[in-house]
Amino acid sequence: MSLDLVSTLPYDSITSLVRKAAYGLVTTCILGTAVYAGYRVASPEKHLIRRHRHPELNDQIEKVLDSLKISDEQLIHMMHILEEEMNAGLSPATHKKASVKMFPTYVRNIPNGTEVGQVLALDLGGTNFRVLLIDLHGNSKIELTSKIFVIPQSIMIGDGKHLFRHLAECLEEFMEKENILNSGTCYPLGFTFSFPCQQESLASARLTAWTKGFSCSGVVNEDVVKLLQEAINEKGINAKCVSLVNDTVGTLMACAYKDPSTAIGLILGTGTNACYIESLDRVGTWDGDYNEPKQVIINTEWGAFGDNGRLKHLRTKYDEEVDISSINPGKQIFEKMISGMYMGEIVRLIILDLLQHELLFLGHRDTYSDYKAALYNRGGFYTKFVSTVETDEGIKFSNTRRVLEDIGIQNPTYDDCAIVQHICRQVSKRAARLAGAGLAVLINRIGKSNITAGVDGSLYRFHPRFKRNMERCMESLVNKDIKFKLTLSDDGSGKGAAMVACVAERIFEHDKETADYETLTKSLIN
Ligand code: BGC
Repeated sequence: MSLDLVSTLPYDSITSLVRKAAYGLVTTCILGTAVYAGYRVASPEKHLIRRHRHPELNDQIEKVLDSLKISDEQLIHMMHILEEEMNAGLSPATHKKASVKMFPTYVRNIPNGTEVGQVLALDLGGTNFRVLLIDLHGNSKIELTSKIFVIPQSIMIGDGKHLFRHLAECLEEFMEKENILNSGTCYPLGFTFSFPCQQESLASARLTAWTKGFSCSGVVNEDVVKLLQEAINEKGINAKCVSLVNDTVGTLMACAYKDPSTAIGLILGTGTNACYIESLDRVGTWDGDYNEPKQVIINTEWGAFGDNGRLKHLRTKYDEEVDISSINPGKQIFEKMISGMYMGEIVRLIILDLLQHELLFLGHRDTYSDYKAALYNRGGFYTKFVSTVETDEGIKFSNTRRVLEDIGIQNPTYDDCAIVQHICRQVSKRAARLAGAGLAVLINRIGKSNITAGVDGSLYRFHPRFKRNMERCMESLVNKDIKFKLTLSDDGSGKGAAMVACVAERIFEHDKETADYETLTKSLIN
């Protein structure tokens, strides 16, 4: 195959692309040039290229990337393991030791669009923290104002008291801006707290572990609603936290507000997790009442799938390295193979590996020091770069080139771009297939003929082919008699929390003379 034929190849033909890339890579090396080796095709140099071609180079690249490939059979096997782990989390006999915790959320039903009220919501879970003021009009109409605040790294890993104080300060600043700080009204507040929590009721939740780079002291095993409320009271703010939800639950609720066939909430962002509506008779750990609806939303916390070693056969040396150098080694193994917090780092480690084996950036060997900083530093290749690189179609690689220049590779060759894009594609495709297989387990388990999964998170939103890759693999994994749909949830973690808070508050206000709060919240929402 001559290089001038490449532009007419189907772009998805990865093998040929890499073969071509490796081919051109040698070219680059031989010709001693760093600019678009692929375009230098119909020249006399072609003969030179042919003569010096080292086909084993592409095999070496493929070999490195082979470890990322997961076959359909392996996915099906993984689905069985996940289902076993989920059952272990739901059984009182095994829950304590289970990796996939399957926490009952005390949210028993989905909203129907008639919810009315004005509530505040706090959304903590990723790199940003948001405060929202939400008006539910009762006719499926929602009005919302919000402000994003940054959580400084020092607070993410500092004293828990400082974290909650910071949240209260942000809330105060927001309420002041919205002119509701001194209005005399006590606002109900819904807290989206996207970390694993053992809930004891809707408004009490003990953090079981930090994830996603947080590790504030003095919070694990504590009731985070209580900690938040104490910080709010300390500042004299007129707000009462009436409910806590995980972001997956918020996502499910917000999506169900518009589409009643929604039974799953999925997050693919900084972290990953899913929740779904489960029948009470399968929740051995349920300690609430068994009245209608005989169901409860389960927060699976599937990010911890594999923490007991059961995904060992699917992990690569890059996954192991990402894990070892993380803040929580041995934890969140499934999450570390999928989510945005780790994807760029996996790509970086593969790039480094290829570079060290002299399979990449050959024209730059003399200038290593120029890009040492970005490429050799943990976190130097952002996950958003993966999305950017994969938006390139065709052979121009304008985005990929920009990304490579960003990390210090000046004038990357066609081959550099092609290989880096190939790496990104393999890493993100594996993530999409793993998430798709996890979702297929939930869909098959729910077993209804029509199921919608509400999905949110930066990875899902911004990656150009994540959704497509997920759907493609799910087609063969979901039972044939089930129709499923993935719907992007519109600002779920904020709105969903508001819906739950709104109903919790209404029930509480309505019945506070006759019933205790604990019981009421346990039977939300009818
Ligand atoms: C947390 C989950 C959360 C997910 C997505 C994970 O790290 O454990 O609670 O839902 O990230 O934000």
